[in-house]
Amino acid sequence: MTGTPETEAEILGAIGFLNEVMARYPQAISFAPGAPLLDGITRERVIAAVDEVAGHSGAPGWNALFQYGPSQGIVNADLARALSAAGACTVGATDITITVGAQEGFILVLRALELHRRGTLGIVAPAFAGIRGAATFMGAQTVDVLEGPEGVTAADLEAACGRADALGEPLRALYVAPDFANPSGTVIPRQARLELLHAARGRQVLLIEDTTYGFTDPDVPPSLKALDEHGVVIQVGTFSKVCFPGARVGYVVADQPWNGSTLATWLATLKNTTTVNTPALSQAMVAGLVLSDPAALAERQRMLRNSYRDKRNLLLTALDDEFPDASELGLSWNRPTGGFFVVMQTRRDLDHAALQHCAACHRVLWTPMRDFYAGRAGDTMLRLSCSHVPNDQIREGVRRLGAFLRETSQDAAAQ
Ligand SMILES: Cc1ncc(COP(=O)(O)O)c(C=O)c1O
Repeated sequence: MTGTPETEAEILGAIGFLNEVMARYPQAISFAPGAPLLDGITRERVIAAVDEVAGHSGAPGWNALFQYGPSQGIVNADLARALSAAGACTVGATDITITVGAQEGFILVLRALELHRRGTLGIVAPAFAGIRGAATFMGAQTVDVLEGPEGVTAADLEAACGRADALGEPLRALYVAPDFANPSGTVIPRQARLELLHAARGRQVLLIEDTTYGFTDPDVPPSLKALDEHGVVIQVGTFSKVCFPGARVGYVVADQPWNGSTLATWLATLKNTTTVNTPALSQAMVAGLVLSDPAALAERQRMLRNSYRDKRNLLLTALDDEFPDASELGLSWNRPTGGFFVVMQTRRDLDHAALQHCAACHRVLWTPMRDFYAGRAGDTMLRLSCSHVPNDQIREGVRRLGAFLRETSQDAAAQ
């Protein structure tokens, strides 16, 4: 539902709060951010990457990269080729709009669908705070669609349609992250993907597919977009995790027909009023690093995948070792095989105040799961991200977390 002023401020401030809290406790070991590894990203490599893009024959050169550029983007053809080579989906350059991160993609898609005027947006719950933020920012009516152990199903979509109808505005789109969702780590199985597509088509609901963590496992099922034969899926992707988030390059694949062209071209028109164009320099960095050579992208994904797998395994082993008494403490956690995140169920109320107390007294940070739900379903859960913690600090971070979670409420009050 569209939030009250307080909840709106909470939703819109969630990501900012987490960034600030990290800066305020620099000594803390941080399992909070989904910040990626930057291995192989250096000043020299980035300059060489841009040189490669600007310098090849027929290229416009560095000067053009310093200028304004086309709203739809300048690396669309390279990206279309890369998506097709990776089996992600087969689309053309005009079916893609390059955005300032996936985050701008969400805003543009919600605006294009006019969700601020009519209809309801379903959001898988729990979900990445950015989509909830985008919906709040746009004034869209939303319903949470609680996922099961294998993500959202066709039955969940049907139920959400019923709830949206009861609110008087039919479900028009559903946000879903089928590959190692942030934060839950769920993967939607192939058959369930096909059923979801079928149900969405039948109900005339568009699926907004977020592919951010798909690269962390080569064996995930084909993307919803790859399986989509009827224009049901709008795919939103990002280079924040496979390249670097400072580039702020993401994209939307939207090949649906739209007023004689594609939805992607309408998104580009809307983009004139948000960020005008994604900086050409940023697009060139990403293109030079991973897009112009499909082998380079595959190699970088493989290297990152292995590093994240090692980190996840270190984290899971440290949790097993730290909490042999997990069930007595009321603790449990999932064991995802991809992505960045592990979710822990506890007995404590875990809000921003608890996080600050934990940072100040135990020097370890995590993310309260309540930030990923519209309601209070996540109040006693926390998310641990393994992506940003050096391997040799993971065990110590978990030891500190143990001290926090073993604290009695009296201890906490006395600190
Ligand atoms: C699931 C998911 N989607 C999208 C994003 C945002 O990506 P971007 O940096 O491209 O805006 C994130 C960032 O952490 C994410 O976890």
